[in-house]
Amino acid sequence: MANNMKYFIGNWKMFGVPKSITILNKINKFVKNDRKFNKKYKIIITPPDTLIESYSKYFSNQAISIGAQNCYYKNNFGPNTGSISSLMIKSVGAQYIIVGHSDNRLEGDTDIMLKSKVENSLHNKLKIIFCIGENKEDKKKNKTFKVLKKQIENVLEKKFNYKDIIIAYEPIWSIGTGKIPEAEDLLKTTIFIKKILKNIFKKSNSPPVLYGGSVDGDNVSQFKSLNEIDGFLVGGASKSEKKFIDIIKNYYR
Ligand code: PGA
Repeated sequence: MANNMKYFIGNWKMFGVPKSITILNKINKFVKNDRKFNKKYKIIITPPDTLIESYSKYFSNQAISIGAQNCYYKNNFGPNTGSISSLMIKSVGAQYIIVGHSDNRLEGDTDIMLKSKVENSLHNKLKIIFCIGENKEDKKKNKTFKVLKKQIENVLEKKFNYKDIIIAYEPIWSIGTGKIPEAEDLLKTTIFIKKILKNIFKKSNSPPVLYGGSVDGDNVSQFKSLNEIDGFLVGGASKSEKKFIDIIKNYYR
């Protein structure tokens, strides 16, 4: 079953300085004035940690929610130079956190570390955006479902509140490449992911499952008819107000 809410998440990665807030101001203004935008749509932006506090304050009670892109796998405070815990992220106003982005998996995040990040973040009352996705090789060898099942089952557990979790399916071969899955394949994969999740959480409804990877204002219309897809995680195109607004507009118009 599809969820009622559609999510548009913008992941800025290593981009942004304080004045980049003008991008978000324009997006915020657009959604406030657009009659088609309503409570069925949710916008979350994950700027770098350096901007979370100021942006969270600025956009409190606005259409945009702020999240973080990652955290250290240990909680609270510790002798870990250069690291930021989920407690610290929450303390500056973030409401969401991305866990398991392929950028971070490629840099060494293991399932054990990801589980710890999820546990600590939930403990600190952050909602999780958990990323999964197969690489080109997995896809070629028809291992996509096997890989996704393992990524989910190794980290998510029934004891986590499924209402605090969003899944972003991001095939690695589609991130930043301009390639997107065939609509039919994407639908099948999304339904498969939801089946696994319902099984873990023993619920009749699954957490939202979003798609991410080269989403832009043109290709987003191909996903319109796929009601099972509960939104999008956007990288590159979220750094431009025009491109991000085009995605939102072209999705619901
Ligand atoms: P992309 O990135 O939209 O630039 O492909 C998506 C992501 O990495 O989350």
